[in-house]
Amino acid sequence: MRRNPRDLQRYSAGERANHWVVGICFILLALSGLAFFHPAFFPLTQLFGGGPWTRILHPYIGVVMMLFFIMMFLRFWRLNVMEQRDVEWLKNVNKMIDGNDHDMPEQGKYNGGQKVLFWGLVVGMLALTASGVAMWRAWLHLPVDMVRVASVVHAAAAVWMIGLIIMHVYAAIWTRGTIRAMLYGTVTRAWAKQHHRGWYRKMTGDNS
Ligand code: HEM
Repeated sequence: MRRNPRDLQRYSAGERANHWVVGICFILLALSGLAFFHPAFFPLTQLFGGGPWTRILHPYIGVVMMLFFIMMFLRFWRLNVMEQRDVEWLKNVNKMIDGNDHDMPEQGKYNGGQKVLFWGLVVGMLALTASGVAMWRAWLHLPVDMVRVASVVHAAAAVWMIGLIIMHVYAAIWTRGTIRAMLYGTVTRAWAKQHHRGWYRKMTGDNS
């Protein structure tokens, strides 16, 4: 994509690479996890070299995702702290969904919805990792009752995460001009002014 010199930098290369490692791990984990969840999905194990290999690889991919998620958390948590203007934005979210986003309260780099999603992902990742490690019998031998509880928590956390990520991807596609932020790092000034006016003003000094 040709870059306009007036575009605004939203993500560095490091931030984007970090995000995509998490995103790719998430897709691999969802595919391999679904294969364990129900026989209808078992053919997905072919993507990973068969049943035993899928079972071996899934937890290691989980560890990679968690480590990179921790890095992403450290990069982004401060920008996702809730403020009063985010609460106002959330109260008006129906207006925006109806297509009228002109009267929404001004937003910083992230809006209230993105921030709620961020903390929802943090909770989901903690539950997924703790329950996944508890079930990892290659390394740990916890009592069978704990493993049973962990497997229910793990499945529930996975459903929660898949639901949140479907919303995340849908919102990224629905808000036109957003995907390129994670592909090329930049957004147009018009995009920033319309969706994140506070951030736009901070980046450009334009208070019009
Ligand atoms: C796999 C498909 C995915 C796509 C297409 C996608 C797309 C995007 C896009 C376009 C943005 C930029 C939004 C903006 O700047 O306003 C973004 C930000 C972000 N994404 Fe993703 N993403 C995906 C997966 C994930 C996964 C699996 C996670 C974590 C488990 C994740 C966590 C985040 C976080 C934390 C941000 C920064 C926004 C914030 O801090 O609130 N993404 N994503």
